Amino acid sequence: MNPKDVKNPLDNKPLLMLAPMQGLTNRVLRQWFIDHVAPDMVFTEFMRVQTRSRKRVTKSDLSEVNSHNGQTPLVAQMIGHGEEPLCEAAEGLQLAGAQHLNLNLGCPYGRMLSGATGGELLREPVKLAALLRKLRTQIKVDFSIKCRAGYDDPRQIFELLTIFADCGVDWLILHPRTVEQRYGGAADHQLTAEVAAISPLPLIANGDINDVETGLEILKIPGLSGLMLGRGALADPFLFKRLREGEAQPLTDEERSAQLQSYIADLLPGYLDQFCGERQALMKLKDLLNFIPDPERQRVLGKMKRAQSLEKFSALLRGL
Ligand SMILES: Cc1cc2nc3c(=O)[nH]c(=O)nc-3n(C[C@H](O)[C@H](O)[C@H](O)COP(=O)(O)O)c2cc1C
Repeated sequence: MNPKDVKNPLDNKPLLMLAPMQGLTNRVLRQWFIDHVAPDMVFTEFMRVQTRSRKRVTKSDLSEVNSHNGQTPLVAQMIGHGEEPLCEAAEGLQLAGAQHLNLNLGCPYGRMLSGATGGELLREPVKLAALLRKLRTQIKVDFSIKCRAGYDDPRQIFELLTIFADCGVDWLILHPRTVEQRYGGAADHQLTAEVAAISPLPLIANGDINDVETGLEILKIPGLSGLMLGRGALADPFLFKRLREGEAQPLTDEERSAQLQSYIADLLPGYLDQFCGERQALMKLKDLLNFIPDPERQRVLGKMKRAQSLEKFSALLRGL
């Protein structure tokens, strides 16, 4: 499914997407989400486009493109700068089989040694428009943008919207904070509603959607095509399922424990395989725990983060 194909965004099937999160949404984690809660679309972590190497995308990033056997649409996300590097990266990714390409215009930490990337590209809208126009001629598949509301002014999105539409971008994910805000304050979904009201492009809302109530409220916005869940989904992966079912009832303590235990335990074999050994797998699992803020289980989660072996980690997990 693709936001462009949503004829009526207000029918009962808004798209629910798993956000790209560097260092976290690796292929094993994405596959877990696909198998257990079936997001409509998943994203790769951002792929840094190389400016100094003719190989614009690393071999390992290229191999990500085919990671889920076409089960669920996978969007390959690029971050970088420069028309030539980005166009060549897009070409390489398409040759590798990518059906959906996305450009990151949101990352507040995206600056590379060679120049501004991610959210910083919003500082020069004229240059950005030229880049997007060029990229559009190169990208034959679906092309989306993930962006902040603006660099330092959240109203910049209205100027950006015209640029994106004129340049032939297919759809847009909006995280309604400015780049300068980083993760401070709150995502302003009043602004999302204003954008949805006039957007010529299908619009997906992202930012601070951490519970069913918030998600359902945002889905009432007329003209919205769906939601993208990031940190909220890492902390509560079954949020996808409950949102789809409109189930606002909070989980019981037992349900929450059982869900967390199976979520983390299920990842273990895949992480051991993907990250070459116990130490690396353990580190990656601990990275995920940092995104599970659960006051009821803080003590055990803290011990798990300090566990020095997988055996100890697994024993603690059983008591979560
Ligand atoms: C650790 C971390 C890594 C992230 N990596 C990416 C990334 O690779 N690409 C991207 O577009 N956004 C990235 N983001 C931003 C998220 O996709 C999302 O836009 C942001 O967290 C707001 O949504 P949320 O409140 O649902 O988490 C990252 C966020 C976090 C916290």
